Amino acid sequence: MNTYNVDLNNLPKHIAIIMDGNGRWAKQRGLPRTAGHFKGADNLKRITHFCYDIGIKTLTLYAFSTENWKRPQDEVDALFNLFYEKLQDYKALMGDRKAVVRFLGDKKPLSEKLRNKMREIERDSLKYLDGGFTFNFAINYGSRDEILKATREVAELYKNGDIDIEDINEKLFSNHLYTYGLPDPDLMIRPSGEQRISNFLLWQSAYTEFYYSNVLWPDFSPKMLADAIIEYQKRNRRYGGV
Ligand code: FPP
Repeated sequence: MNTYNVDLNNLPKHIAIIMDGNGRWAKQRGLPRTAGHFKGADNLKRITHFCYDIGIKTLTLYAFSTENWKRPQDEVDALFNLFYEKLQDYKALMGDRKAVVRFLGDKKPLSEKLRNKMREIERDSLKYLDGGFTFNFAINYGSRDEILKATREVAELYKNGDIDIEDINEKLFSNHLYTYGLPDPDLMIRPSGEQRISNFLLWQSAYTEFYYSNVLWPDFSPKMLADAIIEYQKRNRRYGGV
């Protein structure tokens, strides 16, 4: 395995990636946008292999945001068909690696067929809780939506007399986010030249290190991911201290 000079003793525990630039990748080649998403899905596999091989424990990928419904219907349909097809494929890959798979986001608006597949994958992967690798797909995920969901749940607890106002703290609140139980991301990567967070893990990224690259997601290689980790390893994380 080529680790591209990453210091394996100082790895980020959790890497989050905004898989951006599929559409532009396709456009540059005169292909339909969906061809870019197919290529992006292939890259997801390559990057997942690499992360697993070097020992990253948690990987979270932004596949579809609560705002992505604004895209043309045929692109949305193609994306969900792709998710369905690829999830079957990833299921085997994740099984080989004994990974826990989680889907972050609101499943309600998704088709029943896809929801069932997602639930089946999540449930079957629970046997790997001790396996040490967790793979999260953010599908129909939006951080503001997630924070509101948590707020409603916490309000409900208070209303039912299960908690006092003083019990509301970061830990309790975090337990109502889709990411409950996961460590916050240490490193957030966004390829494709855009430098924004786009409603992804707003609460969780309070002290996350950001890394941007101009390369479009389908071309974002394991070597480039290694470069991102090496850059992360040089940073001095102070968490508000000195
Ligand atoms: C953003 O690129 C990418 C997406 C909205 C979709 C990402 C999805 C995949 C890579 C497939 C994942 C597969 C599974 C199974 C989860 P963009 O379309 O915004 O690109 P652009 O900014 O160049 O238009």
